Amino acid sequence: TEYETILVRQEGRVGWITINRPDALNALNTQVMWDILSAAEAFDADEGVGCIVVTGSERAFAAGADIKEMEAKSGLEMLMGDHFGGWPRFAAVRTPVVAAVSGYALGGGCELAMMCDIILAADTAKFGQPEINLGVMPGMGGSQRLVRAIGYYKAAELILTGRLIDATEAERAGLVSRVVPADELLAEAGRVAETIASKSLPALYATKAALDAAMETPLAEGLRFERHVFAALFDTADQTEGMAAFREKREPRFEHR
Ligand code: HXC
Repeated sequence: TEYETILVRQEGRVGWITINRPDALNALNTQVMWDILSAAEAFDADEGVGCIVVTGSERAFAAGADIKEMEAKSGLEMLMGDHFGGWPRFAAVRTPVVAAVSGYALGGGCELAMMCDIILAADTAKFGQPEINLGVMPGMGGSQRLVRAIGYYKAAELILTGRLIDATEAERAGLVSRVVPADELLAEAGRVAETIASKSLPALYATKAALDAAMETPLAEGLRFERHVFAALFDTADQTEGMAAFREKREPRFEHR
């Protein structure tokens, strides 16, 4: 499939989505949203894909939702149109998603990164929720996911002031798992994604679902969910293979079922 605003390719078991609106610093208009969703759902439906990487350009992962597209809209239009309807579906893909962030990840860009499971940052990355400077506030999950990611007080400071943080501060805060030199970002993201994609697909799906539960449910409910998805994995061929490979001191050959 050809997309207007993103580049898509598959390398082995890794699906790559590169946001490609260079003249708008990859601002996320509705077309980008539907393109990303469509590509992610196609990878998600493909058993040959075990991990998805979302990335942007050197200069910008994404500088936010598209301000020019939103500017003239009314509250009702923002709420009732399909303006952000694709993002919850993107966050719900079963396949693990790695965000490889170089340059700006602001507003909706930071929020998109937080819809992913792992955030890797180039040393050039800048994160922030500057919506307050536009007379609005985060609208794609920032006021909720950033609090859960880095804690109330740090998140509140960033969202209320609009201050941007660099990759080092983002890593210290726990938003970013690792910072790498900019020219190594894509190679490193590829290595992380290949590592993930080499695991058993049913185990990856179950694990992502349990990680999502950790963000969303009270502890007792999350633990109950974990107990059941963990048990369900014992009915997969890959559990049999994985544990046999351990016993036989060899690498497992997962069949993703
Ligand atoms: C639309 C954008 C954009 C955006 C940049 N551009 N960000 N267009 N929406 N979010 C466009 C600029 O208008 C410009 O196009 C081109 O990209 C290059 O940007 P410059 O500003 O010239 O680059 P620079 O001077 O290097 O500054 C980079 C920047 C700045 C600091 C990132 O662009 C900026 O502050 N952008 C907005 C960041 C922001 O507020 N994000 C939050 C958006 S609200 P032209 O054609 O003019 O040259 C949001 C809400 C999400 O995300 C939730 C839903 C409500």
